[in-house]
Amino acid sequence: MRFDVVTIFPELFPGPLGQGVIGRALQRGLVQVHAHDLRQHAEPPHWKVDDEPFGGGAGMVFTPEPLALAIESVREQGAAGPVVFLSPQGDRLTHAMAQEFAHEPQMTLVCGRYEGIDQRIRDGFVDREVSIGDYVLTGGELPALVLIEAVARLVPQALGDPDSARFDSFVDGVLDYPQYTRPAEFRGRTVPAVLRSGDHARISAWRRRESLRTTALRRPDLLANLDLNDEEQAFVDECLESVKSAREDNAPEVN
Ligand code: ADE
Repeated sequence: MRFDVVTIFPELFPGPLGQGVIGRALQRGLVQVHAHDLRQHAEPPHWKVDDEPFGGGAGMVFTPEPLALAIESVREQGAAGPVVFLSPQGDRLTHAMAQEFAHEPQMTLVCGRYEGIDQRIRDGFVDREVSIGDYVLTGGELPALVLIEAVARLVPQALGDPDSARFDSFVDGVLDYPQYTRPAEFRGRTVPAVLRSGDHARISAWRRRESLRTTALRRPDLLANLDLNDEEQAFVDECLESVKSAREDNAPEVN
């Protein structure tokens, strides 16, 4: 899969993607990251890519022409895929969205800076806006790196062990179960005996329950999308009840 990134900081790419699993996928050519310098599509001698916002206000806005030229030049190089603008106003990046993108042969990521980019680019050149969370960063480069990492690891053969993606948190709508490795006892803390039993059915059942417990305690909003059997539902209800009574026990008394 190929990622084309339009940015004023092309030197930030591939950056951290050059290491580890994605780094190996880059070396093997399974994933390609091409950064395009937005300034090269601006006018000499100043190569200016931003201007003051119409209507006034703080900060600068990326002007439309260099962005349009940069996106068009990526398309002329044969890119066929969605154009995504990284923005706090976008759809929140989820694992399901990453899986959708991983089916594309290519995608173009547009990184803004300052107060944003001219709305006409968003209206006429961008297929989708994506946010990596409800906080504001100074630009789209780190979000683009996050998006590439989330998508590239799902590209077939990018992960050494395909099971690592199959059992990820969120894949089946629940958070991951706890993991342990050697030693069996660490500073007085032991590994749950079931994990050393060799009984794969019991291990799977334990992992499922622990996933449900973590999800109920930390991300109860995810529970609505699960299709639980009666036993699982009863277990989740128990977990939610224990959180509720712990909260009531800790609540200050109201006079
Ligand atoms: N640009 C600035 N903040 C961002 C965010 N949270 N997600 C995506 N792009 C951004």
